[in-house]
Amino acid sequence: MDALRMLTERVSVPQLTGPEITPQEQEILLRSALRAPDHAWLRPSRYLLVTGEERRALGEVFLHATPDWQQLSEDRQQKILAMPLRAPLLIIAVSCIRQHPKVPRDEQLLSTGAGVQNILNAAWALGLGAIWRTGEMAVNPQVAEALGLSSQDVIVGFVYVGHVNGHLKQPPELPLDDFVTHWKPKTP
Ligand SMILES: Cc1cc2nc3c(=O)[nH]c(=O)nc-3n(C[C@H](O)[C@H](O)[C@H](O)COP(=O)(O)O)c2cc1C
Repeated sequence: MDALRMLTERVSVPQLTGPEITPQEQEILLRSALRAPDHAWLRPSRYLLVTGEERRALGEVFLHATPDWQQLSEDRQQKILAMPLRAPLLIIAVSCIRQHPKVPRDEQLLSTGAGVQNILNAAWALGLGAIWRTGEMAVNPQVAEALGLSSQDVIVGFVYVGHVNGHLKQPPELPLDDFVTHWKPKTP
């Protein structure tokens, strides 16, 4: 796929389906993630893959981490259990924040965010669909514990990757002038 078309036309894809993402495709996604810019080559990003039956186990983690989950309706419980089943591959992007004299926490988070964007772009270039999600589970300490994360680790995104299931949205083309200006120095 033409790289510039990919960058200017990619959309997020919430409706995803199988078949499985192949090991070759997974490698391209993850190698793309690892090419994200990274101040001082601190390597803050880690990527946890969740596929197959492990997605059901993660659904259990999500449910049991939900406050007062026993009080929820059966329908709501089933929805939470099914969250990780929304795509054949779930990539959990984590920023392992370290103290560094030149690289503040925000820059480490941004680096992992850039890694996520590279995954979205690479998925699109492979003809796959993907979407970056966060939500309550991304900041839930029980989920972090079940994923084996430490208190310094931050879940930057749950990236769902699969085959496009349905129509792709056609976002409106945004007028550049609404977002971009040529800076000029103030006149004294
Ligand atoms: C950090 C971050 C977190 C997001 N979390 C969610 C989410 O939890 N659920 C969701 O539906 N969309 C979420 N989104 C938005 C989608 O990823 C996507 O950007 C949005 O649906 C717009 O689609 P587009 O990327 O094609 O413009 C998030 C986006 C970002 C950048």
